[in-house]
Amino acid sequence: MKIQIINGPNLNLLGKREPDIYGARGFESYLDELRRRYPDDEILYFQSNVEGELIDCIHEVGFGRVDGIVLNAGAYTHTSIALHDALRGIQASAIEVHISNVHQREEFRHHSMISAACKGVICGFGLDSYRLAIEALKAE
Ligand code: DQA
Repeated sequence: MKIQIINGPNLNLLGKREPDIYGARGFESYLDELRRRYPDDEILYFQSNVEGELIDCIHEVGFGRVDGIVLNAGAYTHTSIALHDALRGIQASAIEVHISNVHQREEFRHHSMISAACKGVICGFGLDSYRLAIEALKAE
């Protein structure tokens, strides 16, 4: 399978950012591990702090370029109707992921603007949330 992982704002700081919540590991090293775990699959990765660039990436891959999208939209999860519309507008299915359990955190994190446009949601399993999302795409 060809899978596109997309990370949104501040997720470039994984490993440095609030390690008590997000862990001490940077995403690049986790990505290496994921690619080793799924040698027969192609795992593409894009990160941006810019909402429009996340939308552009969704548009670029969403029409036949990949079999599925794993999206951690960071804080845009809670605000972005534009991301919702982008996900609704493509053919590929997307899984929404979060490293932390957003429902155990501040109330403003409890609502997602994108869940309804995604196939499903995985949150609260640390970086393993991404692997679980890949498993969900493979099981489709
Ligand atoms: C996050 C949760 C969001 O509420 C937050 O804004 C993030 C990361 C997570 O992976 O737990 O940036 O998406």
